[in-house]
Amino acid sequence: MINARLIGTLALVAAASQVSAVNPPPPPPGASKPAPMNAPMAAPAPSAIKPAPAPAPAPVKPVVDDSALLAPAKQPALRPHVLIKPPMPRMNPAKPLFGDPLPGLTTAQLELFVDGKADFEKTEDVEGGLGPIFNESSCVACHNGGAVGGASPRNVTRFGRVTATGFDSLDALGGSLLQDQSILPAAREFVPREANLVVRRNSTPVFGLGLMEAIPDAAILANVRKQPVDGVTGKAAMVTDVVSGQTRVGRFGWKAQQATVLGFAADAYANEMGVTNRYFPKENAPNGDAAKLAKSDFIQDPEDAPATGLADFEKVANFMKLLGPPPQAPATASSNAGKQLFASAGCVACHVPSLLTGPNTDPAFDRKEVRLYSDLLLHDMGSLGDGIVQAPAGPREMRTAPLWGLRASAPYLHDGRAPNVDAAIAAHDGEAKVSRDRYLKLTPAQKKQLADFLMTL
Ligand code: HEC
Ligand code: HEC
Repeated sequence: MINARLIGTLALVAAASQVSAVNPPPPPPGASKPAPMNAPMAAPAPSAIKPAPAPAPAPVKPVVDDSALLAPAKQPALRPHVLIKPPMPRMNPAKPLFGDPLPGLTTAQLELFVDGKADFEKTEDVEGGLGPIFNESSCVACHNGGAVGGASPRNVTRFGRVTATGFDSLDALGGSLLQDQSILPAAREFVPREANLVVRRNSTPVFGLGLMEAIPDAAILANVRKQPVDGVTGKAAMVTDVVSGQTRVGRFGWKAQQATVLGFAADAYANEMGVTNRYFPKENAPNGDAAKLAKSDFIQDPEDAPATGLADFEKVANFMKLLGPPPQAPATASSNAGKQLFASAGCVACHVPSLLTGPNTDPAFDRKEVRLYSDLLLHDMGSLGDGIVQAPAGPREMRTAPLWGLRASAPYLHDGRAPNVDAAIAAHDGEAKVSRDRYLKLTPAQKKQLADFLMTL
């Protein structure tokens, strides 16, 4: 549905901002130009002559700030919700596929799954709150490999400034996450000159996130080593959960920067799509410029905040929580040999084959084995680190990437630099150096077996 008034406003603002960019308006008549800073002082009048009273200086009009004129009255977000009823997904199939719901859900949960999936796939529009700056207009645009919710080759950009004293995320200039699209050309973000670090972040899959969330903090903390084994220690990412305000073990994202699925969903709506919500109620100003924001933001915040019922970010969080884990592929003789090599090369020190969820009143999450091949800890990866500090992760620290579903998530590593697992493993460094060197000594046939194993996870 198209709202004519809003489209009219957009066209007007676009036209006005283009005109003023090309051709600054002439100064209004009578306005005096402010003296340049380095103008010479006027010579003092000879003391014998009584100086005539100086004419009252013409008032210096400020340079016209058109942001107030152009900023239209904000409209409420239009977010009509079409409740998607069945077709219901397959429940407890003998052979699960990527994108299937968790086994053992109730009918009510399956309805939440289907409904939240529709929001995950929905394309946001300006009237609903998209932008002013954003990266893509739907979750599925970046999460689709293998099925809705998978990884993709889409990278986002982070920037910052590395100084002698540490890392500056250049918040005041719109850092560290760049939004590379905008609803108006004039609001478009760019990497500022001040940035001397620019890195890419590859989209990760969201399969099985409810299981990952149900792993107790204590189970993750239990894998932190006091004494390094083969150089591996690990550190839990203690973060403040945006939802509960509590200190929790972060586990989502390349830096384990979020502790809950709901928190990540709210973050993604605001920061990837510019749709504000209860937990992220403020729009990102383009490169931190409040005037640019005022000229391009037409919708009242928070945008995803219905008067009744669940907000879309809550529905999408339900979908991600109820998504099943990636299905494993059948083992072969080669993959079985590769499994042994995975253990003997010490990959399991970080890529812990499985963790257990805690006791849970919901049977779908109650003491389940989660075969994610990650300890969910941060590790110092040496030269593989991305240089970004995302508290509490330091510049070289990265979350052990879960390896489940690898066959549908290429390209690999945080910046998607590795087209295959061989390149991804060869780039391991820091705490993973001992293990990587063992891998590099394998014969080509053994490397193939190890890759075959990884493609079954
Ligand atoms: C422009 C691409 C893009 C869009 C749009 C996008 N994401 Fe993502 N998503 C990413 C990237 C890149 C990452 C990895 C981010 C990081 O760790 O810095 C990610 C990570 C995630 C994760 C963490 C998964 C894990 O591995 O722990 C979740 C959850 C997520 N996104 C949910 C969403 C939701 C929900 C939406 C829609 C509201 C969404 N994303 C929209 C690119 C995108
Ligand atoms: C010290 C901990 C550690 C050890 C040991 C380790 N890894 Fe990793 N692995 C990581 C981390 C951390 C990442 C994410 C790094 C990044 O992208 O910056 C990762 C990423 C990967 C990826 C890419 C996953 C993706 O989705 O992009 C693969 C494949 C992988 N590891 C396989 C292995 C194999 C095989 C071994 C053993 C030879 C191994 N790793 C040993 C910590 C480790």
